[in-house]
Amino acid sequence: MSYATALRCRECHREYPLAAHHVCEFCFGPVEVTYDYDRLRRNVTRESIERGPASLWRYRDFLPVDADAAIDIGAGYTPLIRAKNLGKALGLNNLYIKNDTVNPTWSFKDRVVAVAASRARELGFQKLACASTGNLANSVSAHAAAAGMEAVVFIPTNLELGKVLGSLIYAPTLVKVRGNYDDVNRLCAELAGQYEWAFVNVNVRPYYSEGSKTLGFEVAEQLGWRAPDHCVVPMASGSLYVKIRKGLEELAKAGIIDEPKTRMSGAQATGCSPIATAWQEGTLNFRPQKPDTIAKSLAIGNPADGYYSLVQLRDTNGGCGNVTDEEIIAGMKLLAETEGIFGETAGGVTIASLKQLAERGTIHPDELTVAFITGAGFKTVEAVVDHLQPALEIDPTIESFDRAYAAGHLTEAIA
Ligand SMILES: Cc1ncc(COP(=O)(O)O)c(C=O)c1O
Ligand SMILES: [Zn+2]
Repeated sequence: MSYATALRCRECHREYPLAAHHVCEFCFGPVEVTYDYDRLRRNVTRESIERGPASLWRYRDFLPVDADAAIDIGAGYTPLIRAKNLGKALGLNNLYIKNDTVNPTWSFKDRVVAVAASRARELGFQKLACASTGNLANSVSAHAAAAGMEAVVFIPTNLELGKVLGSLIYAPTLVKVRGNYDDVNRLCAELAGQYEWAFVNVNVRPYYSEGSKTLGFEVAEQLGWRAPDHCVVPMASGSLYVKIRKGLEELAKAGIIDEPKTRMSGAQATGCSPIATAWQEGTLNFRPQKPDTIAKSLAIGNPADGYYSLVQLRDTNGGCGNVTDEEIIAGMKLLAETEGIFGETAGGVTIASLKQLAERGTIHPDELTVAFITGAGFKTVEAVVDHLQPALEIDPTIESFDRAYAAGHLTEAIA
């Protein structure tokens, strides 16, 4: 049984039943799930969590669904790696990578969809839909397939092949919209009014966004039940960035960790940086942008949680990376070459931002810092294919190999 009690407006705090409902009828503020924290505090312990499954459902008591009836394809409980080599390269002595590339559909979106899809089914929906920059569509398609539900997923036309195939393999209705993500999102908001479907990031968004908290829970548990000093999180709508902190705060409310003092830093690509730009300008009011970046998964020009992200940047004394496409590619390569992790372009945004924030002195060298790598590199091979050292091609003889190997090293030496 869930400890969720209501949907509460973030602005006026009016409460609503736990239905498919995402805005306050009174002030149009966004609503979010709230819980009975006193009961959580009495009943949930570190040990009760540790006895749970090796998936995000070990945090079932902090999620707004009946976990026994959940659609579970194994999302969550991903590795937290001590990144000594990358830390050395960036002058950070206490750096960790949360590797969320290893989820069932290779991005953190499996967390949000596991929760949203499960809640949608509980509420009686038979069709799952979404507006996506790619990863979300993959995850909705996969979860719907496993649940025997129908999926209708909407994406912009310009996505990478891996992101398109990564949906099509599960046989959803994939709709390519001639426009950018913000056009897709606007269309889906209209369609949600017409069709009785669960659009995971529209009408059931309050449940969807709760899934991102599990990244905060996991990191705290994996650090031995403590909050990190500093997080670096990629931002599209800003939801993940806001919810990781909510996860840490909820663990403290339940008496499981000390009050978090975690500084929350964000990461955006210069070609789509409404939040980073507003932060640099010192305002809480961002201006929407028209995206133009290789970090397509983060290409949301009008971020739903942009305002709350800016408030959190201010309140937690965080910083915000703002990195070019060249820096993104360099970030992807640096992560792969130092830690053996192949992240997608969003991961490049995170690593390049981590570097920028370390160089600026925003991240102190001894802070326990966690950088979140939220999607896998094979989904965005187009970004790096022309930027890698080519293979040596040889005849199957020792001489041919010796020649090619020596020449390869010669070029390296000259370079
Ligand atoms: C790989 C990846 N990382 C991060 C994000 C950011 O998510 P949010 O919209 O919660 O800011 C996305 C969003 O699509 C994503 O695909
Ligand atoms: Zn309200």
